[in-house]
Amino acid sequence: MKHNYKIAVIEGDGIGREVVPEGLRVLEAASRSYGLNFSWQHFDWSCQRFLKTGRMMPDDGLDRLRAFDAIYLGAVGYPGVPDHVSLWGLLIPIRRTFQQYVNLRPVRLLPGIDSPLKNFPPGSINLSIVRENNEGEYSEIGGRLYRGTDAELAMQEAVFTRRGCDRVMRYAFELAGTRKRHLTSATKSNGIIHTMPFWDERFSAIAQDFPDVRTDQYHIDILAAHFVRHPDWFDVVVASNLLGDILSDLGAAVAGSIGLAPAANLNPERQYPSMFEPVHGSAPDIAGKGIANPIAQIGSGAMMLEHLGELEAARAVERALETVLESSELHTPDLGGKATTHDVGEAVAHELSLVAKPE
Ligand SMILES: NC(=O)c1ccc[n+]([C@@H]2O[C@H](COP(=O)([O-])OP(=O)(O)OC[C@H]3O[C@@H](n4cnc5c(N)ncnc54)[C@H](O)[C@@H]3O)[C@@H](O)[C@H]2O)c1
Repeated sequence: MKHNYKIAVIEGDGIGREVVPEGLRVLEAASRSYGLNFSWQHFDWSCQRFLKTGRMMPDDGLDRLRAFDAIYLGAVGYPGVPDHVSLWGLLIPIRRTFQQYVNLRPVRLLPGIDSPLKNFPPGSINLSIVRENNEGEYSEIGGRLYRGTDAELAMQEAVFTRRGCDRVMRYAFELAGTRKRHLTSATKSNGIIHTMPFWDERFSAIAQDFPDVRTDQYHIDILAAHFVRHPDWFDVVVASNLLGDILSDLGAAVAGSIGLAPAANLNPERQYPSMFEPVHGSAPDIAGKGIANPIAQIGSGAMMLEHLGELEAARAVERALETVLESSELHTPDLGGKATTHDVGEAVAHELSLVAKPE
C-alpha cells in the first residue's frame, strides 16, 4: 500500500507564491516516478489575509495544521505589514507550538555555480548550520516605556534554557557523527555576559557524550570572517537563533545565492509536523516578475521527502536540481542568467520524469 502523505501548503507572500508552485510541480513529478501519494491542502495565510482580517492565520490555525505529516511553506512578510507582525503572527507560532527546535540549513556549493569567493570549486563548500529555533534572542520578554519622550526605552530579554540548548546541541552532535565528525559552536561569550557563557558551558557538557566528534568554537564576529575566508573548514555549525539566522544568509551567499538555500524546521521527536521552507524571504523587490530562483524551495521539498523517509525520491530531486544547475541557460538572474522561475521548475520536473517508473 502506498502511503498517502498529507501536506499543508502555505505559499505566503511575494515570491513564495511563485516558487511554491514550482516546488509542488517537482514533488508531483517525484511522486509519479517513485509511486508516492501526496494530498495537498492549501492555506491562504499571508499578509494579504492580515490586511483583510487583522490576522495572519485564523484562531484555530495551529490546530488545523497539527494533523498534517508536514508543512510546506514559501515565505511570509510584505511591505504594508510590519515584519515583526507577519513573523510573530504565523512563522514563529508554528515553529514553537510544534517544537520545531532545529532549523537545519545546509550550505553546499553545487556544480555549475560560481561562488563569489576565489578558489572555491564546486564541492569544496559543504556544511550544515543547525540553528536553535525556539528560544534565544527571539523572545517576547521585554517592553517599551515612555514612548515618544526623550526618556523612551526598549528592552528585550534573551532566553537560553538548559533543555533548549542541550537538545539542539545533541542534534548537532548526532548530525556531525553522520558526517565528518566536526562540530563548531558559534558564540559571543566575550560580550554577552550571561547567556553566551551558559551556551558555552552546555556545549562543553554535551561534548562529553560525543568523544568521537571534534569540537571548536568561535565568537560570531571572527566566525563570520572565517565563513568568507575558509568555508571549507566547517562541517556542522551549531548556533543560537539570531547567530544562526545571520550565518545562514552568509553561508547561502558564499554558496552562490540565497535563492539556492533550502531549510527544514524539524521536530526531531516527530510528535508534531515539521515545516520545510527556504532560507530566503518573500523578496518584494523581485516579486511578481517571475524571475525568483525556485531551487531553494525545491531543495526544501527534497528535505521534506527525506524527513518523510522517502530517501530515494529525496536523492533524485537533489540530483535533478544539480543536473539543471549545470546548464547556465537554466540559471535565474540571481545567478547571472535569464531563465524564469517556471523554466527552472519545469526543467527539474522533467529530469525527474526520466527516472524509471516503479512497476
Ligand atoms: N522565512 C521567512 O518567511 C522569511 C525569511 C526572511 C525574510 N522574510 C521576510 O521577507 C521580506 C523581505 O525580506 P528581506 O528582503 O530581508 O529578505 P529576502 O530573502 O526576501 O530578500 C533578500 C534579497 O535576496 C533576493 N532573493 C531572495 N530570495 C530569492 C530567490 N529565491 N531568487 C532570487 N533572489 C532572491 C531578494 O530579491 C533580495 O534582494 C520581509 O518581510 C521579511 O520579514 C521572511
